[in-house]
Amino acid sequence: MAKGPTFIILLGPPASGKGTQAAQLREALELSHVASGDLFRENLGNETELGLKAKEYMDRGELVPDDITIAMVMDRLSRPDCAGGALLDGFPRTIAQAEALDAALTTQGHKIKLVPNIAVPDEVLVERVGGRRICRVCGESYHVQFNPPQKEGVCDRDGGELYQRDDDRPETVRKRLKVYWKQTSPLIDYYRDQGVLAEVNGDQPIEAVQAELRAAVEKALRVF
Ligand code: AP5
Ligand code: MG
Repeated sequence: MAKGPTFIILLGPPASGKGTQAAQLREALELSHVASGDLFRENLGNETELGLKAKEYMDRGELVPDDITIAMVMDRLSRPDCAGGALLDGFPRTIAQAEALDAALTTQGHKIKLVPNIAVPDEVLVERVGGRRICRVCGESYHVQFNPPQKEGVCDRDGGELYQRDDDRPETVRKRLKVYWKQTSPLIDYYRDQGVLAEVNGDQPIEAVQAELRAAVEKALRVF
């Protein structure tokens, strides 16, 4: 593997498969999976002040303000299990967040190695979201049709209960997509300009997306 910590950012619209792909890739790369949405949902489950504040925005399909989000993710990245890098999912989501991450990594002499952009047409995403089920314990994503658990309603990994996210209602999903195109899609050019972007076709079976991702990782890091 290339020297220094490995920071990889999975970019892509809501329900493009970031969490699904990260679950497989993190095991292969032995990297910590840092997903901002999962961190907010964990906080909400524990009824922390941060979680309750974030819920107001999440339920409306809007982004949680940058200052809250940046502080939460930076705190997560400072933990020992991220010393070797991290597989980031859902962060950064604005130019301000990307600049804050760049600044923090630069201070430590590190940089982002790869940013796969998982592209999927909007109409496919709206359809996918309806069948999504999430584990209450570990946050793993399933799909009733495309990625069903072995036992209905139960997580394969830890036996946790599967549920539907509050923000997966059709009207909230449409809002999340609008927010994505306005506030997050500019990051595609931001990372392309840094020479770290890799385009991945997310509109194909989960295994095919994973194969494309691994090819991009292999090219960038010389692993597998
Ligand atoms: P977050 O939890 O990050 O949601 P998201 O980005 O909208 O992405 P999702 O988790 O919905 O989708 P995913 O790409 O992980 O797809 P998945 O693998 O589950 O954020 C939620 C909210 O938190 C935001 O709206 C915001 O309010 C707040 N937030 C989070 N981060 C923030 C930040 N940085 N700044 C500010 N606010 C922030 O797959 C989706 C479904 O499709 C599953 O059912 C899966 O099984 C299925 N599937 C996956 N791949 C395929 C495939 N290839 N074919 C068929 N089905 C597939
Ligand atoms: Mg996710």
